[in-house]
Amino acid sequence: MPAVAMEQIVSLSKRRGFFFPGSEIYGGLQGTYDYGPLGVELKNNIINDWWRTNVYERDDMEGLDAAILMNRLVWKYSGHEETFNDPLVDCRSCKSRWRADHIDGVCPNCGSRDLTEPRPFNMMFSTQVGPVADSGALAYLRPETAQGIFVNFANVLATTSRKLPFGIAQVGKAFRNEINPRNFLFRVREFEQMEIEYFVMPGSDEAWHQQWLEARLAWWAGIGVPRERITIYDVPGDELAHYSKRTYDLMYDYPNIGVQEIEGIANRTDYDLGSHSKDQASLNLTARVKLNEDSTARLQYYDPESRRHVVPYVIEPSAGVGRCALAVLCEAYAEELTKAPPPEKLQSVADGLTAFLKSVSRSDKLRPEHRDAILARGEAIAGALTERLPELEPLLALPGADAIELSKKLRGQAQPVLDEHYRTVLRLRPRLAPVKVAVFPLKRNHEQIVATARQIRRHLQGELGLRTVYDDTGAIGKLYRRQDEIGTPFCITVDFDTLGEGKDATLAGTVTVRDRDSMAQDRVPIAELEAYLREKLR
Ligand code: GAP
Repeated sequence: MPAVAMEQIVSLSKRRGFFFPGSEIYGGLQGTYDYGPLGVELKNNIINDWWRTNVYERDDMEGLDAAILMNRLVWKYSGHEETFNDPLVDCRSCKSRWRADHIDGVCPNCGSRDLTEPRPFNMMFSTQVGPVADSGALAYLRPETAQGIFVNFANVLATTSRKLPFGIAQVGKAFRNEINPRNFLFRVREFEQMEIEYFVMPGSDEAWHQQWLEARLAWWAGIGVPRERITIYDVPGDELAHYSKRTYDLMYDYPNIGVQEIEGIANRTDYDLGSHSKDQASLNLTARVKLNEDSTARLQYYDPESRRHVVPYVIEPSAGVGRCALAVLCEAYAEELTKAPPPEKLQSVADGLTAFLKSVSRSDKLRPEHRDAILARGEAIAGALTERLPELEPLLALPGADAIELSKKLRGQAQPVLDEHYRTVLRLRPRLAPVKVAVFPLKRNHEQIVATARQIRRHLQGELGLRTVYDDTGAIGKLYRRQDEIGTPFCITVDFDTLGEGKDATLAGTVTVRDRDSMAQDRVPIAELEAYLREKLR
């Protein structure tokens, strides 16, 4: 079962070093997160997988890495200066500011309905280029990577001799001054996008739009977010971005946050290439574009078959790396039984839960909606306690639960059972796992065991390029748990048998390889480790 509460992911992330709030020691900077040692590996693995699928495994794609800072005119003609706005309202009672379409007419801070009329707030961060702060120095941090692709269309075409249809892929940072950044990595002010601009002959755009929809769903399934967990939202006309003829938003149901966009797949028509072109009147554009008096190029394509110039249409699949990492973690997260607890231990937790729920139902400290939510969740857990015991912690984190005296007692009863009989495991696709292999010496002070274990680690990481950690800081069972929790697919133990000093002399030169998902152990010759791991990590 995937994560049931975002709190599970936030807590794991903090405990193990996936993501940290940005600038934390100075009180943070809202809407920013830093990727820790495991987060950066996960992020790089996601990006590499996306790049491999979309650039290397196709023969119609090129890559690009454009500058974040661009001439201000890019944002004038792209339409962002005029239209990249969110509706901002002020609460007259508590002076807080909100995005009008997120709050339903009520201030989430103080409950007041005394709000100002919505007014447009441009989300681009502005900055100054060079030492003189006059109007000519104004620049923006890009709010999407896409424009870097459009303004390089002619460069890529000229240097690669591509024929339509073809695409350009780019991964990079984007910045948006979100009015209310929230929900962990979900809505932040600095984030990374993986974007494709796929250029097609006008008229073939709708068919390509469908093809990209299928291709992108297949990619998501391949990284562990299956088709049935994604809803396709065919964005209605009045919600479409200014450049779009049609957009499919891929929506994922994040715990606590709800159903939200993880990727947009837009048909941008000839809007962008047309917007950035000179002599627009001669281009037969279908999109309505702003008159461009500054561009020095006609962003068009010579079609050798029809012997005419056309401005290609564009299909754009655009996904956020942070939202992807979050969805992948939610899907991979599991807290599961490893060995059944004795009935008397389980009974004491069951009794504690019954007493807690009784206290909740009688409490006058709780808001009715909080009480109902705790009771509904609590009764579901009580109905299948053995399997659902790990959901107790998220239950106790629901609003109002800690106001109930018995919550501490219940936590105290459940924790030892959880520690001994359950494990947290991230069932990440092996190629996405931050650490591929962990190597343990059975004895941390045994010179030869340590030397062999270190040698294996050096070989796997240094020569095979597999992120590998060496850990000798606990008993093997504890070390397994630690690796399960971060999704490490394989743990290797070097022991006396490896050295030929165990009971079975035929095991000399072999190590134990333990599989994260099945917890099964294989004995593998060191000489065959490379082939064994390569096969399983594919
Ligand atoms: N070039 C098209 C474009 O930027 P978008 O729907 O605004 O389209 C694409 O953004 C993707 O970027 C979204 O599906 C989401 O995954 C990610 N994204 C957008 N705003 C974000 C934010 N504030 N925080 C995190 N990710 C964001």
